[in-house]
Amino acid sequence: MRKKIVIGNWKMNTSFKEALLLTEEINTLITKEMETVILVPFTHIKSLQEKCNANVIVGAQNVSQFENGAFTGEISAEILESLCVEYVTIGHSERRTIFAESNKIIAEKLAIALKYKLKPVLCCGEALEIRKNGTYISFVENQLKDSLQNVSESEMQNIIIAYEPIWAIGTGETASATQAQEVHLSIRNLLEKLYNKEVAQNITILYGGSVKASNAKELFSETDIDGALVGGASLNAKSFVEIIKINHEL
Ligand code: PGA
Repeated sequence: MRKKIVIGNWKMNTSFKEALLLTEEINTLITKEMETVILVPFTHIKSLQEKCNANVIVGAQNVSQFENGAFTGEISAEILESLCVEYVTIGHSERRTIFAESNKIIAEKLAIALKYKLKPVLCCGEALEIRKNGTYISFVENQLKDSLQNVSESEMQNIIIAYEPIWAIGTGETASATQAQEVHLSIRNLLEKLYNKEVAQNITILYGGSVKASNAKELFSETDIDGALVGGASLNAKSFVEIIKINHEL
């Protein structure tokens, strides 16, 4: 059975003090049977790892495509590995659009993350105009094909995919469960073609884009939606743990 998980993406939010408080609240609300990952600012990683329950895993939001050296301001996969960080998002739409990360850069980041045994959460998803002109399935397929070209079948076991339509991120407008399921299924079909049925069936595919406690159940009830990558709602412990609970109980 494939892994179901809800991952919180804090983005560039929380002062150090706020992060400690939020983690404490998550610790209190989460039960032993549940598991979650929180992707926090780099500066908070070490302290939050020390604070978190065993079932709250601290991850990173980005990794450099370079191995090490003169890259001021960057964080390498080796640095993350040395902090025992497992999960890292790669190819988030904010990185693609604001920081001009291409599929080529994303493929390089994936390669280096996998070399250091990190677990990439590979994001994909179309902008509004692509959704409107109807080419979103092939757009997402091309993003994945280009990013995964050097990833082997065995490395696929360490990857999570997150489908995040850009028009639904931080906008309050969620893709409907049917809209999300359509793309999730097409991603699974693509992975079957690129790899095989086992890879396609075992990979965790998360939905992201304005997920809240009120729409989580509908989304998680779809066959090919294995959980969520949650931005805004992960900054509130109560609503975040509610989403984790809904995924756990389904
Ligand atoms: P959102 O963000 O839940 O605030 O829409 C999701 C994401 O960007 O991962």
